[in-house]
Parts: sequence; C-alpha cells; structure tokens
Amino acid sequence: MAVRSLCTGNLLNIFVSKNLSSPACIKLSSTWSNVEMGPPDAILGITEAFKKDSSPSKINLGVGAYRDDNGKPFVLECVKKAEQALMGGNLDKEYAPIGGTPEFCLETAKLAFGDNSPVIKDGRNMTVQGISGTGSLRIGAAFFSKFYSKGKDFWIPTPSWGNHTPIFKHAGLEVKSYRYYDPSTCGFDFSGAMEDISKIPEGNVIVLHACAHNPTGVDPKPEQWKEMSALIKKKKLFPFFDMAYQGFASGDTTRDAFALRQFIEDGHEVALAQSYAKNMGLYGERAGAFTIVCGSKEEADRNMSQMKIIIRGMYSSPPIHGARIVTKVLTTPELKNLWLGEVKGMADRIITMREKLVAGLAKEGSSRNWQHIIDQIGMFCFTGLKPDQVERLTKEFSIYLTKDGRISVAGVSSSNVDYLARAMHAVTK
Ligand code: LMR
Repeated sequence: MAVRSLCTGNLLNIFVSKNLSSPACIKLSSTWSNVEMGPPDAILGITEAFKKDSSPSKINLGVGAYRDDNGKPFVLECVKKAEQALMGGNLDKEYAPIGGTPEFCLETAKLAFGDNSPVIKDGRNMTVQGISGTGSLRIGAAFFSKFYSKGKDFWIPTPSWGNHTPIFKHAGLEVKSYRYYDPSTCGFDFSGAMEDISKIPEGNVIVLHACAHNPTGVDPKPEQWKEMSALIKKKKLFPFFDMAYQGFASGDTTRDAFALRQFIEDGHEVALAQSYAKNMGLYGERAGAFTIVCGSKEEADRNMSQMKIIIRGMYSSPPIHGARIVTKVLTTPELKNLWLGEVKGMADRIITMREKLVAGLAKEGSSRNWQHIIDQIGMFCFTGLKPDQVERLTKEFSIYLTKDGRISVAGVSSSNVDYLARAMHAVTK
C-alpha cells in the first residue's frame, strides 16, 4: 500500500492508492488551515528568487551584503585572524550574560561615541549586545514601548529601510514619516525634512540613519546635521540613531560617527542601534548593540536592569561567537588597524564601481544624467529606476534588485559592471 500526502492549498490531502483506479482524497482540516501564504520579504525574498534563476549572467543587487571583486562573499582578514586566535584559546560555550559581555559592550560604545567621549568616561551609556542591527532595534523598540513615557510615535524618513516599520510596529509603536529624499534631485530634501521635523509634536521619537542612509545612499552634510540637531533639540524630540553602516559611507569609522557625536555635543539624550554585519562582514553572526545615553552611571545601571528583564523574556542572551570576534578585533591593536584598512578597502571598491557603472552607461550611449550614482554614498544607490524598469531588468537580464530601484553597489564587480550598464541602458532608453 502506498501512502502519499500532497499539501495543496490549505488542506492536507491523503490518498491510498491500493485498489483505487483514481485516488480518493480524504481531506483533513487542521488548526492552521486558515493561515494564508504571506508575501516574500521585500529584500531577503529577492535572494530566494535569485537562487532559483539558472542564468549564468544573473546578478544579485538586492540584499546589502558586500561582495569582493569576483562577486564572492568576503570574510575579512581581521576576522579570520581573530578566529584563529580564539580557536587557540580553548574557549567554553557557556551562555553569555543577558546583555552580552561588558567588554564587547564597552568596545562597541567606544567605537560609536569615541574613546574620549564624556558618555563613556562617565559610564552614562546603557549598552547591551543585540542580535545584529535588527535585534538591537527590536529590543530598543521594546524598551521605548515599555518605559518611554512621552508617547509611542516613531518618525522615520521617507523612504527608510524596509524593516524599520515592521520592527517598530511589532513592539507596539506607531510609525509616521518625515520627508527625506527628493526624487527630482536624487538627493537630500533638506528643506522638506526641516519643515516636517518642525511639525513633529514635542516628545516624539525621530529615527535618524547615522550614515550611509538605506535605501537612498543620501546623507545630510555636516552643516545640515548641525541644523537638524538644533531643530530637534528645540522641538524636544528624542533622536534614535540607527548606525548599521559605520565606515561604509566615507571609509572612516570616525567620520561616519559625526552625526551621532554632534548630537551628543549638542546635549541630546540619544538611543543608538549598531550592527557589525556590514562593517565587519559578520552578517550571519548577528553581532550588534543597543545603547541609551543616560544622565548618570547610576541611572544607566537601573535602565540596564530593566533591559535585561526585557531581553530575558525575548531570547535570554545573545550569541557569543560574533561578539568574541568583534571584541578580539577591537582590543588587539594590529587587528583593529587591519580592520580599519579593510573597511576603507570595501568602501573604496564600491566608489570605484559607482564610477565604472556611470562610465559604462555613457559608453552604452545613455543620455540620462546618472551623476547621482557617484554622488550617493555607502552600500546603496537609489537609481531612480521605475518598477516596470526594475521588472524588465529581472525578467530580461536576470538582474535582481528591490522594487524601489535600489541597487546594492556592493554586488557590482569588474566582471559584471558592463553587463549591468548595458541592461540599465536597455530599460531606460
Ligand atoms: C538591506 O537593507 O539589504 C540589509 O540591511 C539587509 C536586510 O536585512 O534588509
């Protein structure tokens, strides 16, 4: 007797083939039969589609993950060396403390605020390890949801990283938006942003991409950050920084921390989510951190005790391996120098690809102005391609990118840049 099951739609069909010329279906309804198929993730779903494509010339420009010039995933040399050193150390596999190790948290906070920051010196940072950028935002959102007494409204830029809204909503927060990107210039809409920020009600939280804005690649200039900081202070808004790309904007981790440090200098209280996915290439290791800057060390300790209660109920404690790598790199001077050089190397390769792509488009005969591809910074370029043009790139050329026209320039290499230029010209001419 052969028993087979076919899961079709929302019913489990079982048929027994013996003595039956055509199979009879016994339909078993289950508790989950009403669950509908959800849509693929707007960013990570692209990778799933890309993997199914058998074209030899396919390119994945969807997810923001750095590739070397051969299009291969890149494990940083400093990470390999740190791992080798850790292997020799006969380390145990015990649980990390609920908030991560104090050493990891301190080094991560120093990287953001600066070694000599008064925040660090006075111990006013409540920093915990989070599960990369997403997890750090999520525990931060949970903390705000529980303890921030001035309201639940979180204002994010238009557009923002596609996962911001789900993360904040999942924690029971309300998501609203302020103008940020100007499609007519492919640049920062400074006056629109200032006008919208000036109308945000007092006490609300404003989410700021600290550097290398995702998805647009458009950042405010230092002078504009200063004006935004003054307005945000005047309006008594709470700045919540998301810094997932420290080092990727300029190639220099200190320069990329400018906005955050300016806000501290201007006397803001800030919240901060960090990630080592991009700048240390630790995507799957899930190493990141969440910080709130408090009024004193004693206050930071109290807030830490509450944050630990939140984390314990969500996932108990963070993963250890990535955090150990980070700690090793940041506390070993040779490895730290090597890392800073490698961050610059990644940022520089992306800048070169931007230039090559624009040169390639010109060579193909494109008469459009593509200067914004060079002007935008960080891992992403907001090309300005319309959804139908994006669809053609995917269908006709097996080039995968998000529907909003964002390309991860980190996925462009010397060997695919000409093909990409040809395809972009074909769908835009
Ligand atoms: C991206 O925007 O592509 C990255 O931040 C990866 C992600 O999780 O969305």
